[in-house]
Amino acid sequence: MEHHESPAPPVRQVEGRQVQPADTAAVREATAILHAGGIVAVPTETVYGLAGRATDPAAVAAIYAAKGRPSHNPLIVHVASFAAAEKLAIFDAPARALAAAFWPGPLTLVLPLRPDAGLAPAITGGRKTLALRVPAHPVMQALIAAAGPLAAPSANRSSHISPTTAAHVVASLGAAVPLVLDAGPCSAGLESTIVQVTDGVVRLLRPGAIAAERIAAIAGPLSPPATAAAVIAPELIAPELIAPELIAPGMMASHYAPRQPVRLGALHAAPHEFHIGFGSVAGDLTLSPAGSLAEAAAGLFAALHHAEASNRSVIAVAPFPEDGLGAAINDRLRRAAADRS
Ligand code: TXA
Ligand code: MG
Repeated sequence: MEHHESPAPPVRQVEGRQVQPADTAAVREATAILHAGGIVAVPTETVYGLAGRATDPAAVAAIYAAKGRPSHNPLIVHVASFAAAEKLAIFDAPARALAAAFWPGPLTLVLPLRPDAGLAPAITGGRKTLALRVPAHPVMQALIAAAGPLAAPSANRSSHISPTTAAHVVASLGAAVPLVLDAGPCSAGLESTIVQVTDGVVRLLRPGAIAAERIAAIAGPLSPPATAAAVIAPELIAPELIAPELIAPGMMASHYAPRQPVRLGALHAAPHEFHIGFGSVAGDLTLSPAGSLAEAAAGLFAALHHAEASNRSVIAVAPFPEDGLGAAINDRLRRAAADRS
């Protein structure tokens, strides 16, 4: 990312020890908080998560409260391995193939929940499906090894931009999170790709850090409409028309919203606009001047946080291609630009 101006984003520091480098001592402290029913923010390869023990109803309630998240929007459970995942949900052949190809890593599978999984019921909001992921990040893995399966949504206030640094977490959640384990910026920078596999049907619920083309190469063609249409152009679809069991409830039109209006496809910008560029379109800040979508994805949320903290009244964003990771980048940008009413 190239910065042509750099007003530091405002960061509210609650107390000196809230953000700690994710070393052994800090992971031990986080583990103690989790065992006491508390929540901590933790780095993953996608974005920072707000974690609590998945078997503890009080911890899960604390996650919803800290984010201001509606109770009908279920959480992802993070486990150490495929073997641990199999104890919680039912895997058919395509689900197994996807897990083998992409775990550990930024893939979330939505699968039939095992009735005896023993998770806090609020995680699934009464659904018969469970979202599961085996994260690759060593800090998240260390925490799961010490505290068991962790429920973890992105560590931001509900509907706001996801955090890719510890400072973003503090800016969004403030004192609601007692400890943030800091391992620097997240490498992928976009949330996991969410794929639902039920009754042998494979559906993309959320484009993310693994391009849909790579999912299809393993699982075959992804099932279209209901979800695909909702994911690709959510702002065109009234929420009440989206079949609730098919769509990730968090994928509502206005999501990832910065405080200013967002204008997409901007090759140039006016003086009152903060211009986020890409490739050959140079802005106030340019995501990957070399035109790499992976590099742009890694910097996207930081760029939105940065633009939001500027004194400009509009955020203008350069166009991105729709292939590969461009689909997930455009999905997040369309949500950032969606009507807030
Ligand atoms: O990369 C990620 O996935 C990050 C890191 C922390 O793991 N987590 C994340 O969680 O993005 P969150 O809560 O911000 O987004 C999870 C999405 C929400 O849109 C939610 O509605 C959907 O997953 N989801 C969770 N359980 C579901 C289920 N059983 N069926 C359909 N969608 C589900
Ligand atoms: Mg989120």
